[in-house]
Amino acid sequence: MNKETFVTKEQLDKITQEYPTPFHLYDEKGIRKNVEALKEAFAWNPGYKEYFAVKATPNPFLIDILKEYGCGCDCSSYTELMLSDAVGIRGEDIMFSSNDTPEEDFQMADRLGAIINLDDITHIAYLEKAIGHIPETISCRYNPGGLFKISNDIMDNPGDAKYGMTTEQLSEAYKILKEKGAKEFGLHAFLASNTVTNEYYPMLAKVLFKQAVKLQQETGVHIKFINLSGGIGIPYHPDQEPNDIRMIGEGVRRVYEEVLVPAGMGDMAIYTELGRFMMGPYGCLVTKAIHEKHTHKEYIGVDACAVNLMRPAMYGAYHHITVMGKENQPHDHKYDITGSLCENNDKFAIDRMLPKIDIGDYLVIHDTGAHGFSMGYSYNGKLKSAELLLKEDGSVKLIRRAEKPKDYFATFDCFEIGKKLL
Ligand SMILES: Cc1ncc(COP(=O)(O)O)c(C=O)c1O
Repeated sequence: MNKETFVTKEQLDKITQEYPTPFHLYDEKGIRKNVEALKEAFAWNPGYKEYFAVKATPNPFLIDILKEYGCGCDCSSYTELMLSDAVGIRGEDIMFSSNDTPEEDFQMADRLGAIINLDDITHIAYLEKAIGHIPETISCRYNPGGLFKISNDIMDNPGDAKYGMTTEQLSEAYKILKEKGAKEFGLHAFLASNTVTNEYYPMLAKVLFKQAVKLQQETGVHIKFINLSGGIGIPYHPDQEPNDIRMIGEGVRRVYEEVLVPAGMGDMAIYTELGRFMMGPYGCLVTKAIHEKHTHKEYIGVDACAVNLMRPAMYGAYHHITVMGKENQPHDHKYDITGSLCENNDKFAIDRMLPKIDIGDYLVIHDTGAHGFSMGYSYNGKLKSAELLLKEDGSVKLIRRAEKPKDYFATFDCFEIGKKLL
């Protein structure tokens, strides 16, 4: 089955004259259309807000587009907070959802006025010591344990996840926070990742809404928002049915009417912290075939590697590949598509049926817009690629330059060798 690319071969031929492969390319039109649909889907909730998960695609130019639609930032670290600040997203437009959090990060979040989402009950004392007070608005992350199932399908295993507080800890945490002066509360959970079903958010909402009613009754606190976090997935495989965000929004609305409204909690704001759903399909990794190797298998070596996109090596994740200009040719060659790392898992595809690939062909690796570039590392001295934005008018803007050797050596400034190399 085929998957359409958002860029044509003609456009790529032009782009690569100025910017050599590999690079990540993002689709402004797609990003805008998608965030509009998300906002419409939750328009029934007056307090609704999407806090874009910065970790998915930490690029200020892309976050700036989302900012136009009123999105905030979900940050998990000091530098992500700096990035949000640089884009002008501050105060309660930042959700600080971190775990195993260093003191400096809490201090930075507090300086920016972010909403702090505590991962553990012990973080109450740690936070108080770090910033000298407990903020008036505060959130807690919930982990009910066990398996998260939809019908008989196991979606994920929260009981095995390091995140969040148990049911008992959550109630205790709210009481302690209230005693220490907190006035407005949030409740957060992330129970399944990359869900390609319209049922995940409504099911999660039911768990959280019921828990919120219980907590409000038990502790007497005012719960201001429920944060459904991330987890809405995308169809990486061409034969997967994409999520319908309108149905998801409507599903959450129905549960809201069923659980919260009768409990007198109809003033609840719904927040989301989506990453993959916001950017995943609107980014691709463009790479060029530079070698072919015929040994025990047929290999095509490309000029990108797992440093540019780690998901296949890390999780065996599927990313669809289009050989540009050969979309309609028979997929009658079986290839492993490899990068150049000295790691045998550095393969973008294994035993993939593709058209015959020739040296110089451009390969578009789909759905790299989230958790793609951002997961990269620097093994084998590999440098990170550029990021480009394909604008609505068809022009291209450089939104992050490619790393140069001097970037790789920059942290050796304490050694003489560093000076020589720079
Ligand atoms: C706390 C938190 N929020 C949101 C997200 C975004 O998740 P997704 O990209 O699946 O929407 C993540 C992803 O790891 C996360 O850890």
